[in-house]
Amino acid sequence: MTPLKILKEIQVTNFLDSRGNLDVAEFQNIGEFETKRIYYISSVPEDDARGAHAHKNLDQVFFAVAGNLIMTVTDGSITETVELKVHEAGYFLPAGYWRDLKDFTNDAICLVLASEHYDESDYISSFEEYLEWKKSE
Ligand code: TYD
Repeated sequence: MTPLKILKEIQVTNFLDSRGNLDVAEFQNIGEFETKRIYYISSVPEDDARGAHAHKNLDQVFFAVAGNLIMTVTDGSITETVELKVHEAGYFLPAGYWRDLKDFTNDAICLVLASEHYDESDYISSFEEYLEWKKSE
């Protein structure tokens, strides 16, 4: 696989025994990340998508805690696509990138950790506007 330039993979270790499974992710390679908010996305119809925006000032970490889904991120020039799968790696996405989440399985739950509280004005929801903003950064 080509090395990732935008996303940083966060390894997940599984501890499975007769009592069930426990998954652990240690945030070792993503620098300072304080979680101020979490949210999780579920029940996404098969042909639907989420995301389709960028954040100006919000770092995030994404995991699938059930099922699987596809995440694509871009800055307009580099594009990276990863599959998020239950029990497998999560990804750190720094501020300033466009993201699309799609192909959720019926059971998929996407857990997102966010470095800031919710702020509607931090969103860029038009790709054209995003490209303009990125140029001016
Ligand atoms: P949105 O960010 O558009 O979802 P997605 O990234 O999955 O496309 O959020 C959907 C709705 O939820 C929108 O009305 C804003 C609201 N919302 C909050 O109020 N707080 C939050 O922390 C988040 C992430 C969304």
